Amino acid sequence: MKNKMKILTILTLILCSFYPIKAKSGEKKQAKETMEERNSRIQWWRDARFGMFIHWGIYSVPAGVYKGEQIEGIGEWIMDRAKIPIPEYEKYAGQFNPVKFDADAWVQIAADAGMKYIVITSKHHDGFCLWDSKISDYDIIDFSPFKRDILKELAAACEKKGIRLCFYYSTMDWHHPHANSENWSKYRDEYMIPQLKELLSGYGDIGVLWFDGDWIPEWSEEQGKALYAMLRQMKPDLIINNRVSQGRKDMNEGDGFAGDFGTPEQKIPATGLPGIDWESCMTMNKTWGFKSFDHDWKSEKDLIHKLIDIASKGGNFLLNVGPTSEGLIPEPSVKRLAAMGRWLKINGEAIYGTSASPFGKPEWGRYTKKPGKIYLHVFDWPNNATLTIPVSDLQFRKAYFLSDKSKNELKWESTTEGLRLFLPEKAPDPIAAVVVVEHVD
Ligand code: GLC
Repeated sequence: MKNKMKILTILTLILCSFYPIKAKSGEKKQAKETMEERNSRIQWWRDARFGMFIHWGIYSVPAGVYKGEQIEGIGEWIMDRAKIPIPEYEKYAGQFNPVKFDADAWVQIAADAGMKYIVITSKHHDGFCLWDSKISDYDIIDFSPFKRDILKELAAACEKKGIRLCFYYSTMDWHHPHANSENWSKYRDEYMIPQLKELLSGYGDIGVLWFDGDWIPEWSEEQGKALYAMLRQMKPDLIINNRVSQGRKDMNEGDGFAGDFGTPEQKIPATGLPGIDWESCMTMNKTWGFKSFDHDWKSEKDLIHKLIDIASKGGNFLLNVGPTSEGLIPEPSVKRLAAMGRWLKINGEAIYGTSASPFGKPEWGRYTKKPGKIYLHVFDWPNNATLTIPVSDLQFRKAYFLSDKSKNELKWESTTEGLRLFLPEKAPDPIAAVVVVEHVD
């Protein structure tokens, strides 16, 4: 017994003497992250290439309609667009009872689509929280009849499927009484930061914190930097988007602190954002949050081409779904995601873990690459059934279609313009057929 006590005391002393050093070296490490450290922190996300954005909240109850009127603009902004007073908007929380919500089913839809991570709106601009926040009553447990922690259930489902869960969090808050210029630091320190701590501590291994609403006058680059540092200190491998800082929608705009990656919204930068990590976020129709009357869906072909286009420019694709107030991902979204998943099942090798095109954008489609491999994503089948890759010094090994299980080799010849491949008359995939060119690296 005595000995045990002694060992314990010694152990405690050792631990105590290490603690401050550890904390300090942690700080130092954070300040001076090397390129290798940064690369290894971000690698899973770069390799993933394709994620699901989920905009879900009590705005799915009005679903774009207020007092019988169809409100213009994106659905999750209805409180602002229709100028709905707080007490009236709060009533939607009382009606938010998504009894058909099934976290496993949602995660399955994402996994079947070939998505590797999910970013869900833990709290959007309207301030309503999808988790059981101990420092807020304006949440799914205290303010709605549903009384199930949506984020907990999603975290468990993601863990089972090996999908990385990430949280969107709006800095701006239209509901909290202190989220204004007079009381901002109170809101920030006593509400927002404690909430972020809850999100990082109670929901498993969160991959990304995805901020938004940074353009408000109360926020600043300094606060963004301080918040970034604090969050990385809490969770050193966390990835944080550029909107943690102020007014930077896209890394092409302005300069200053910009988190870990750029977030071009509803667009794909023409030549990517060279030297910078980025993720295009996009809707499948015209809204993020569900709107009952938005049926303006992008086609499956368009979405697959967008995914390829983004990968060919070295970016990620964060594609949105806006579930209904019952808790269902709309059928047109599910259908499109399934089509993307079918394409990726065959051609995923040419998307995941690839890097940007080594030769820009050809007329007929896009390129991606991996060490020893160039992928040709053919959108428009060439009339003469040949394609020429503009390389002169490539030590070619072989070429075949990714869809061809037996890897039948394509004929080729070396020309003054580069490597010419002879293709069959008809495209094996009318949306995008992928040819792999293997070469000596
Ligand atoms: C905009 C909108 C917001 C949406 C976000 C997604 O910033 O304000 O409603 O969540 O874009 O990128």
